[in-house]
Amino acid sequence: MSVAHMIDGKAEAARLLDMLREDVSRLRAQGVAPCLAVVLVGNDPASEVYVRNKVLRAREIGIESLECRLPADTDEPALLGLIARLNADPAVHGILVQMPLPAGLTESAVIDAIAPAKDVDGFHRENVGRLVLGEPGLAPCTPSGCLHLLRRIAHDLSGKHAVVVGRSNIVGKPVATLLLQANCSLTVVHSRSVNAAQLCRQADIVIAAVGKPQLIDANWVKPGAIVIDVGINRIEVDGKPKLVGDVDYASVSRVASAITPVPGGVGPMTIAFLMKNTIAAAAAQHGLRQQAPASAA
Ligand code: GUN
Repeated sequence: MSVAHMIDGKAEAARLLDMLREDVSRLRAQGVAPCLAVVLVGNDPASEVYVRNKVLRAREIGIESLECRLPADTDEPALLGLIARLNADPAVHGILVQMPLPAGLTESAVIDAIAPAKDVDGFHRENVGRLVLGEPGLAPCTPSGCLHLLRRIAHDLSGKHAVVVGRSNIVGKPVATLLLQANCSLTVVHSRSVNAAQLCRQADIVIAAVGKPQLIDANWVKPGAIVIDVGINRIEVDGKPKLVGDVDYASVSRVASAITPVPGGVGPMTIAFLMKNTIAAAAAQHGLRQQAPASAA
């Protein structure tokens, strides 16, 4: 019995960040210091960790970062006011508001308020529209990271049957769009699907983005399939906290040909693509075209 190749997202993200560091140097040589503003409302512990990692990675590759922290009881006008100021600040090229927001704040209103040119999450309806139409724009980071990892494993995705498990606006829908653009045949499995495991078992490529710890076991996966696990779930094992994906790694790695681990799979790629979007946004706002974009790698 063979064991699946572990797709090392941490190493791939490090490789990408090395190239992005050079893109930042080139921009700085042209007088542009890319700057990412990260907004955190409240103190959700998981969000705190994500925000810290984003700010650290930015600094490591020479991107300026602005950490904007607001209390959990911030009202919508105050948050929208901050976003308006960041939109108007020419020194800020990218704006990210960490989700989820505390109760009482409407995510769609907040996303709508971010200038599309600075929407490095790729969540604004203008960027979503551009993605669906296949036009240039800022694409969401986790889906871009998934496609990047897939291309490193299987260069030509054309004609492959991809099954996306989950249909969120942040991952499921945009990753499905990117897979279609890569000429995959596509199935989206969700909470109302009849016999989800049987549908998933037909996939050459499985993208698990459903937010249910270890839902997908070997019975869901065709022998030889490539499995990308987007889930980040905190569970307790023997009284100790543990981070697991939507995929039961031990079970699926016995049937898949390649699989991403959690942690160390898609997570680091999300951050790398956030940096890539910030650099692209900075270049575009200064009327510069990036040379040799790292995405070409
Ligand atoms: N919360 C979980 N994932 C994300 C993400 O990609 N961007 C933002 N802004 N919030 C998130």
